[in-house]
Amino acid sequence: MTSHPGSTGPQATQDILASLHTVRDWLRYGVSRFVAGNVYCGHGNESPWDDAVQLVMQTLNLPLVENVQFLDARLVSTEKTCLLERIERRVHDRVPVAYLTGEAWFMGLAFFVDERVLIPRSPLAEFLAVGGEPWLAERPVRRILDLCTGSGCIGIAAALQFPEAQVDLADISPEALAVAERNIARYDLQDRVRAVQSDLFDQLEGPYDLIISNPPYVDEADLASMPAEYHHEPALGLASGPDGLDLTRRMLDQAARYLTPDGVLVVEVGNSAEALDEARDDLPFTWLEFDQGGHGVFLLNRQDLPG
Ligand SMILES: C[S@@+](CC[C@H](N)C(=O)[O-])C[C@H]1O[C@@H](n2cnc3c(N)ncnc32)[C@H](O)[C@@H]1O
Repeated sequence: MTSHPGSTGPQATQDILASLHTVRDWLRYGVSRFVAGNVYCGHGNESPWDDAVQLVMQTLNLPLVENVQFLDARLVSTEKTCLLERIERRVHDRVPVAYLTGEAWFMGLAFFVDERVLIPRSPLAEFLAVGGEPWLAERPVRRILDLCTGSGCIGIAAALQFPEAQVDLADISPEALAVAERNIARYDLQDRVRAVQSDLFDQLEGPYDLIISNPPYVDEADLASMPAEYHHEPALGLASGPDGLDLTRRMLDQAARYLTPDGVLVVEVGNSAEALDEARDDLPFTWLEFDQGGHGVFLLNRQDLPG
């Protein structure tokens, strides 16, 4: 029986394991499989090559950059078997690489992730990387709330950027909060950062100087047409009603009560920005612009919010 590229029967598997020896071989094989399998890259990686580098190097516990000295190193058979299994799960099951390796990056920081949380990719990283300036205009930031925290990436990055601040990470999902707790411990931030289970503001006590959020905001039409990779993410992290704005509407109605008089609300709504601008033409949204891509993030001051 002849095997063809992409074949994964027992004979083909043996051929692959016997033919691929070095890190370079596995990078080449990975990228070929991902291109042929037409995988969708939208979870922090921009191309099948990026996916292959992340999958191969992280599986082997090798650095993602400055790694040429390892390219001709040979793999042992257990490493090969593990890599082949992950490459096949990426192609057949469409599992995003971050869930296969258990790691994703936000603002250059590594976070543990699994299928209980969304894979970090928010443009809010750029807002935080510059300490919120010029938008925060040097206001004091003593208490921060990361609402809809998922892995905790936004709140933990905020805690590192504002080293004096106390930070609450809130999510309705206890499963997501278990991941956030693990990331709080990873950055040794237990003294300033806590995870709170809460349906939006229900279990929270203000006031906060900064409320920052990447809530679910995908509308029904977008949800129906998303590539299979997104269906590995928790539905609770994506869907938010017909126009994607159910949660954001509730947030806008309640946020003022949880902000200091000078407080600021910063929320990502992505493709639902236009619908929100139309639905709430009573609110003076400032739409943030980003150098590194991303859109649909608004800022509102406490005094601009209802209530
Ligand atoms: C788009 S994910 C964002 C995760 C993380 N902030 C990030 O940027 O990677 C949205 C998160 O909101 C949470 N969520 C959904 N409904 C919620 C609610 N009513 N109250 C609090 N959190 C909620 C989900 O569990 C999910 O973790």
